[in-house]
Amino acid sequence: MTLAVCCLLAACSTKETPPAAATQSISVIPAPAQVVMNPGAFELKAATPVRYAAGSPGEQVASYFVDLMQRTRGVALTAAAGDTDAPQTIAFVLQAREGSQVEEGYSLHVSPERILVSSHSPRGLFYGAVTLWQLAASERIPALEIEDAPRFRWRGLLLDSARHYQSPQFIERLLDTMALHKLNVLHWHLTDDQAWRLEIKKYPKLTEVGAWRVPAGPAAAADIDPATKRPRLYGGFYTQDQVRAIVAYAAARNITVMPEIEMPGHASAPIAAYPQLGVTGKASAVPADWGVYRNLYNVDDSTFSFLEDVLDEVLALFPSEYIHVGGDEAVKDQWHASPRVQARMRELGVKDEHALQSYFVQRIEKYLNAHGRRMIGWDEILEGGLAPNATVMSWRGIGGAVAAAGAGHDAVLSPAPTLYLDNRPLNTARPPGRGPVVSIEDVYRFDPAPAELTEAQRAHIVGVQANLWTEHVRTEDRAEYMIFPRAAAIAEVGWSPPERIDWQSFAARLPDQLARYRALGVGFAQAPEAVAVVPGRRTSHELASCSEKILLSLEDDAPLQGERAVFLVDIMNPCWIYRAADLSEVGAIAASVGQVPFNFQIGDDIKKIPLRKPQTAAGELEVRIDGCEGEKIATLPLAPATKSYAVTELAPVAIAKRTGQHDLCFMFTQAAVDPLWVLDTVQLVGLADAEGGAHPATVGNNR
Ligand code: ACM
Repeated sequence: MTLAVCCLLAACSTKETPPAAATQSISVIPAPAQVVMNPGAFELKAATPVRYAAGSPGEQVASYFVDLMQRTRGVALTAAAGDTDAPQTIAFVLQAREGSQVEEGYSLHVSPERILVSSHSPRGLFYGAVTLWQLAASERIPALEIEDAPRFRWRGLLLDSARHYQSPQFIERLLDTMALHKLNVLHWHLTDDQAWRLEIKKYPKLTEVGAWRVPAGPAAAADIDPATKRPRLYGGFYTQDQVRAIVAYAAARNITVMPEIEMPGHASAPIAAYPQLGVTGKASAVPADWGVYRNLYNVDDSTFSFLEDVLDEVLALFPSEYIHVGGDEAVKDQWHASPRVQARMRELGVKDEHALQSYFVQRIEKYLNAHGRRMIGWDEILEGGLAPNATVMSWRGIGGAVAAAGAGHDAVLSPAPTLYLDNRPLNTARPPGRGPVVSIEDVYRFDPAPAELTEAQRAHIVGVQANLWTEHVRTEDRAEYMIFPRAAAIAEVGWSPPERIDWQSFAARLPDQLARYRALGVGFAQAPEAVAVVPGRRTSHELASCSEKILLSLEDDAPLQGERAVFLVDIMNPCWIYRAADLSEVGAIAASVGQVPFNFQIGDDIKKIPLRKPQTAAGELEVRIDGCEGEKIATLPLAPATKSYAVTELAPVAIAKRTGQHDLCFMFTQAAVDPLWVLDTVQLVGLADAEGGAHPATVGNNR
């Protein structure tokens, strides 16, 4: 440890210190605003007392810190009320501080004599404890002075509990880990087409009916529940007691749980529970497709009464200042086609369906404002006229935020694809998710102060948020994998001042962050050790997709228990290319294929999916050479695969002898889009094996 005094502060007289050097000395994420390194270190021992003033908020923070040290470092410290000025102590002190008065700000002073964490607010004190925990990875904590406060007051993470359900235990664990990133908003996506997950006492069917669905596909349909003699239902919901516990757990970690109650679209589940809320009046089960359903709430006064009743219970559960009302992807077809809705529009004097959505959202905003809350919605709430006090969450790029800020409204930046954590984190692994890769560096390089905004408009950007949608994230382990460590990148973007944002520095601190995850038992994505590609055999993830219209890393629907295959597929154009395959020694081509339900609501775009005429009833996998328009060199019948809902190995088919390297194109023929046939692996079979009729074996190289 160098004893040199490092100059890291804005307060420093020299501005020449490069930012990279500035943050190398300590490994804290998110990087603190200001750090001065001093000579020496504090020697942390198990006997070091942790002190707070009796009856002060320091007590809670001190015990949180002690617990964290015990859990993750195996150090058994003791917290007690006592003299916070005593030597050789760690003290948590609530006191007026100089500098930034941002509520979450804190000071952390470490000297060889003592450690003092101080803030004018309990929130700041808490974050001081988090920083100290990160510094206390070894017994020698370097002497330093940190003055820290966040850049943005909204540092959010969205968890979609509608598409897939996560247990309260998982959510509490997530809150724990969020707090250690100084993230402070859990945007809890509780309602959608595929489920309503929040217990509402006045409308029990919302969860009795709305929280349960039969998963898509024949495997799930054939999985009969002996108790009901019907297909087993997938789902779950959060009781109000569970929600209160989660909200309190979050509050103890400075996290606000902001609920999202979707309207007027993404409402199939509540409409399944209470069909009178819908436009068509038709009863139907909670659906299991992904994408955008056309179901909307109607605009009868009774529907607003329902929504207000629901909001009454929501407001009682969630102290959050902001309530999220969704507003996204409300396709207006049903409103357009309904004589009743059209008549209501004439009565209200609204000119089109966008204006009707605006009326809808404004009416809800009035209700929320009257109850002392603020409304936030996805950027579609701009269409047809923004509600007077609304905050906009910009997801279709940052245009929504630019428009909102331009009109004097606040905005949160949460743009797809960069801050959408359902995109794959790495191209070297194949978890299910959206196909395009959004790396941790992509997230880190997100600019929350875009040049499109004037200085005055930038003041309306209240923060940033990363979103974990869970259509393709079925398990809690995978949710952690998708969230971490990319959440560390958004945490730093949201917290650290622009002059501390430095990818090289962040990357250098990342290994310590991963070590923290290991100590906490939190899962995360990390590039696997390079695995040799088996010559001649490639998975769909190792092939090129012919296009990337809706590229998914898609999990099989079968088997219901155990490991399922995952396929990389453009569902708009299932077509793969094996580049530069050396065919000199190849005598046959084999493949394994899966069939998955086509459970995607993509509207009229479904007509754009090319269907190639099958030669046999079951269809075929066709292999073409030198591109997808090239000569067909092999046809593998799908008949053997029709009986299996999971992956089937198709027998090798001989090909004529060729030399040199060729791009091979793989496409299916089929009469309809459902099921969606997908390539799992392809295998080039060596000449000797092919001639001998043996099982597929690998050939030399394909370089
Ligand atoms: C969204 O992704 N539909 C907000």
